[in-house]
Amino acid sequence: MPSCQPLPETIENVEQLEELLSRPTPEVIAAMAALEGDMIVLGIGGKIGPSLARMARRASDAAGVRRRIIGVARFSTPELQTQLQAQGIDTIRCELLDGEQLAALPDVPNVLYLAAMKFGSTGQEAATWARNVYLPGRICEKYRHSRIVAYSTGNVYPLTPAERGGSVESDPLGPVGDYAMSCLGRERIFTYFSQTMGIPVALVRLNYACELRYGVLVDVAQKIMAGEPIDVTMGYLNTIWQGDNNAMTLQAFGQAASPPLTVNVTGPETLSVRRVAQQIGELLERPVRCVGNEAPDALLSNANLAYRLFGRPRVSTSQMIRWITDWCRRAGATLNKATHFDVRDGKF
Ligand SMILES: NC(=O)c1ccc[n+]([C@@H]2O[C@H](COP(=O)([O-])OP(=O)(O)OC[C@H]3O[C@@H](n4cnc5c(N)ncnc54)[C@H](OP(=O)(O)O)[C@@H]3O)[C@@H](O)[C@H]2O)c1
Repeated sequence: MPSCQPLPETIENVEQLEELLSRPTPEVIAAMAALEGDMIVLGIGGKIGPSLARMARRASDAAGVRRRIIGVARFSTPELQTQLQAQGIDTIRCELLDGEQLAALPDVPNVLYLAAMKFGSTGQEAATWARNVYLPGRICEKYRHSRIVAYSTGNVYPLTPAERGGSVESDPLGPVGDYAMSCLGRERIFTYFSQTMGIPVALVRLNYACELRYGVLVDVAQKIMAGEPIDVTMGYLNTIWQGDNNAMTLQAFGQAASPPLTVNVTGPETLSVRRVAQQIGELLERPVRCVGNEAPDALLSNANLAYRLFGRPRVSTSQMIRWITDWCRRAGATLNKATHFDVRDGKF
């Protein structure tokens, strides 16, 4: 069912949530119709991979395109493999840093690259750089004849004044800390191989995907439910509904180029953490305690280029807040993976 359907008032359960996160738009169906060949999703086992791969599956089916979609991860949780297979996604268990295992992966024309290391990067700097910088080089060598859409992050930008409306792709970069620096390293390596081997690449600088089980708005709601204070020093943020992120990411295959296209993906608003917390507190009927004072700058991106290329997000922030607070009231499942959006020193 393409996503011209109206959005539901509430999301009742995980099944309905996952259907919504993977519901393809007409534009995604057209993008999957235009794409030739199978697709491999490297790092499918995290927060984004499952619904992204399922959207690719549903869009390809809706377009009448026979396409194998293959999900690769270490699959620390084996149930996910069963679930993906039931959705028509083949799975391969693989430690991508293992040369033999990487070489044994099938060669396919379309690669989605999601594997990364963020949390725990402080104290494990070498492993962070291996995964975020060295591995992309190995992937480019293996998939030199493919097109690649790879995630990057808004963390490659410096903090900027909130009133500027977020960094654009051509702005100077200023990553802080090993995670952000290694993510810029990931971009540089993809760009190097794209230039030297002619690999079509699109780099998606994502700023905080959000759904009901994780994301910046969920972090705020959970703190309020637990009676914990909200630190507003990182006073502003951007976020995007994960279903909208998935749609833009799949459309990015049509824009992959050598040298790479680099595109910010996030929601259109510069959100005040304090105001978001107040809105969430009112809907949850819980008191909100903010601590600290808003610093003049924050980690913010401007995604106008993505909207020109792929269309605007369909789910608004207020819709996300209504869904999340309703989910929270009913003690809906969460992934227990805080975003740590309030970190200002780059230490994750
Ligand atoms: N989520 C966001 O809001 C956000 C924001 C900005 C950027 N991004 C970027 O978007 C991408 C996907 O995000 P995510 O939130 O889904 O990430 P995630 O939850 O950390 O998932 C990453 C996945 O990659 C797999 N992986 C990592 N190293 C691997 C290796 N050596 N071999 C095999 N699999 C490996 C992990 O496997 P295991 O499950 O086995 O550990 C996991 O399935 C990342 O590149 C991230 O930097 C995400």
